[in-house]
Amino acid sequence: MRANVNVVLVSLLVFLAISSCNGGQLSPVFYRKSCPQLGRIVRNITWSKVAANPTFAAKLLRLHYHDCFVQGCDASLLIDSTDGNTAEKDARPNRSIGGYEVIDEIKAKLEEECPDIVSCADIVALAARDAVSYQFGRSMWQVFGGRKDGRVSLATEAARDLPSGGANYTSLQDQFAGLGLNYIDLVALSGAHTIGVAHCVVFARRLNFTGKGDIDPSLDTAYAEFLKTQCPSRPNPDTTVELDENSSLSFDSNYYVGLRQNKGLLGSDAALLTDRRAAWVARRFQNFHVFMARFGKSMMKMGDIGIKTGDDGEIRKNCRVIN
Ligand code: HEM
Repeated sequence: MRANVNVVLVSLLVFLAISSCNGGQLSPVFYRKSCPQLGRIVRNITWSKVAANPTFAAKLLRLHYHDCFVQGCDASLLIDSTDGNTAEKDARPNRSIGGYEVIDEIKAKLEEECPDIVSCADIVALAARDAVSYQFGRSMWQVFGGRKDGRVSLATEAARDLPSGGANYTSLQDQFAGLGLNYIDLVALSGAHTIGVAHCVVFARRLNFTGKGDIDPSLDTAYAEFLKTQCPSRPNPDTTVELDENSSLSFDSNYYVGLRQNKGLLGSDAALLTDRRAAWVARRFQNFHVFMARFGKSMMKMGDIGIKTGDDGEIRKNCRVIN
């Protein structure tokens, strides 16, 4: 009898833990019967791409974030523009997004193996997780399945809903809160900037703060001088700088170490230090294990934003085109 009560209690706790993560809509076993090979297919393709070109880790991670913040995690970012519609991917903040071809390759393979079963939105979430996880040789967080693909993709919404690189703390916190993400999620997810690069134009204002050649006082002076050498006043539009100095291919907690030395590259990174509570969290995240545990949790919360289920969405045949 006692054992039975324990089993029921444990099952209830597991159920609550799962449903509290996603409002009960997504499931860890969603494709177990319909496409059991899904996990293996996505991991194999993603890992081979990242092995051949490590910059794909940052690209695929950012792709998932830019998808989720606009219309929810529904692969609306993957839809190509048409004559009558300028889609999200052609909005200014999305022009530097990459990795679409990896998603296409995964989708093509899945359509061979389990046609019409796996949504592009779920592929994006899995590929982001696997891209980051490659470095560790194991999955760093769980990805639940069951997202449907959206049918709406508007450049105007992307321009409106994605925070800018110069955003201050209040606007970042408000934008995240509007999507159910709290200040700890904001600090944790900003840690994605431990990998990848930014174009000079995105932080140029910090190097000419009041228009008189002076630097943003919240930026470390020596680091600002280094940035000026990388990004002269009229930089090549393709020039980029590592978001996490000397460590942009390694997913680690060095971002927070740099941040606390005023070497956060973007204004939005530096903004995290302007709030007492956020600065305290950033300090804690200098410990990789503390950071990674929370990053995974926050990624799961981000992957839950605006989920479409049932007739709300579809399983696209081709991720670039509405069925
Ligand atoms: C907090 C608000 C955020 C702002 C304002 C922001 C802004 C930016 C900007 C301006 C860039 C440089 C883009 C370029 O010049 O090409 C960038 C890069 C990047 N962002 Fe964010 N970001 C934010 C949050 C996030 C989140 C939540 C993630 C993922 C979970 C993320 C992942 C990345 C990655 C991986 C890159 C590097 C991309 C690459 O190297 O291709 N960012 N971000």
